[in-house]
Amino acid sequence: MANIALYPGTFDPLTYGHLDMITRASMLCSKLVVGVAENPGKNPLFSLEQRKNYVEVEINKLKSENKISKNVEVRAFKGLLTDFAKQVDASMLVRGLRAVSDFEYEFQMASANKRLHQNLETVFLTASEKQHFVASRLVKEIARYGGDVSSFVPEEIMTGLTTIFQHTK
Ligand code: PNS
Repeated sequence: MANIALYPGTFDPLTYGHLDMITRASMLCSKLVVGVAENPGKNPLFSLEQRKNYVEVEINKLKSENKISKNVEVRAFKGLLTDFAKQVDASMLVRGLRAVSDFEYEFQMASANKRLHQNLETVFLTASEKQHFVASRLVKEIARYGGDVSSFVPEEIMTGLTTIFQHTK
């Protein structure tokens, strides 16, 4: 049986924490779909196209350096995650857990998704020691006030953040 996993997120923006998750998740399945959610409720800073593009560019870099398997595909989606999971034929949903504070939200989401799609199992990977506190929300806040985010996000994303926030200072 093809073992297709889906790693969904808003990726606003993609961080090194996400890339670490993607690399590790890709080793657990025959194909990993990285699902970039529209998520209008979160009022993302970057457009869906831009967020998807950043993820694609960084994954392609990792592929060309042979640091990630070739079985990773990036797709944007709108609407319910469980509908998208059915569309891509995923049987596993991968989410990262950084801290205990993530647990309640993740447990709720996993339970709701299970109710909506019985054949989809949520699997949690713990964030690596180096990346466990990295969150897109924090990265945006640091960038907004001109802080150095180079250890959190790839260079192109850092430039994107600087471009957006230079007008708000
Ligand atoms: O990176 P995030 O913001 O933690 O990811 C959240 C995401 C995109 C996984 C979640 O908001 C989601 O699944 N959005 C799609 C809409 C949906 O299905 N919502 C119900 C989830 S139980």
